[in-house]
Amino acid sequence: MHTLEELNKNRLPKHVAIIMDGNGRWAKERGKLRIFGHQNGVEAVRKTVENCAKLQIQFLTLYAFSTENWNRPKIEVETLMKLLVSSLRKELKTLNKNNIKLSAIGNIDSLPSKAQKELAEVISKTSKNTGMTLTLALSYGSREEIKIAVKEIALKVKNNIISPENIDEAVINTHLYTHFLPDVDLLIRTSGEHRISNFLLWQIAYAELYFIDVFWPDFREHHLVEAILSYQNRERRFGKTSEQLN
Ligand code: FPP
Repeated sequence: MHTLEELNKNRLPKHVAIIMDGNGRWAKERGKLRIFGHQNGVEAVRKTVENCAKLQIQFLTLYAFSTENWNRPKIEVETLMKLLVSSLRKELKTLNKNNIKLSAIGNIDSLPSKAQKELAEVISKTSKNTGMTLTLALSYGSREEIKIAVKEIALKVKNNIISPENIDEAVINTHLYTHFLPDVDLLIRTSGEHRISNFLLWQIAYAELYFIDVFWPDFREHHLVEAILSYQNRERRFGKTSEQLN
């Protein structure tokens, strides 16, 4: 089994993003309720955060709850929110011990007030940390993010704060939820699905995509290492030819 030590530390992805998928199917396979899958998913989150911090990955972004997830049964949504609150409470110490700074992207105002409060507290209490930035995508939808950015820019044009000729990629970047993050280098999706599901559509323009046939609660160190090894074996050309890169 692969271990963290095998990785070339000079060629690590700066920003890793993960679509944590398959909690429900993991539970179903065991004849349990979907909630059981989410509970076990939390352990995979803890381990992955710890491993990325050990590797000194600078940015880790996790798709924890999408705008579409609000359509799930009420009891499942409530349990996911409770899990979020209890995990934040439990993990504050560990985040600080590992110098991890927490942040969040998405429509945070739409979360239950308890979740908003806990999130704000952990974000504030880890804000001085200088190691990895862990970003939770909560009530996040990429199209909504782009729509909001377009509206804000349009308003600035209307009020003569910015002229249309000056709208470039950098301007768009500064209006996205992710304005404080670099582009994604490696996007991992678990559970065998080969979809992006409205996650960071703008930010993954040049990301390497890695799909793995393992349900999220089973995702462990060696899976993360396999994903990064695959990333390290790829040639990132950003539109250029191999010869130009050499
Ligand atoms: C996808 O599995 C998973 C989610 C929608 C939620 C992810 C949440 C956690 C791992 C737990 C809480 C998170 C934090 C950050 C503490 P699915 O339910 O879509 O699985 P399925 O595709 O098999 O139905």
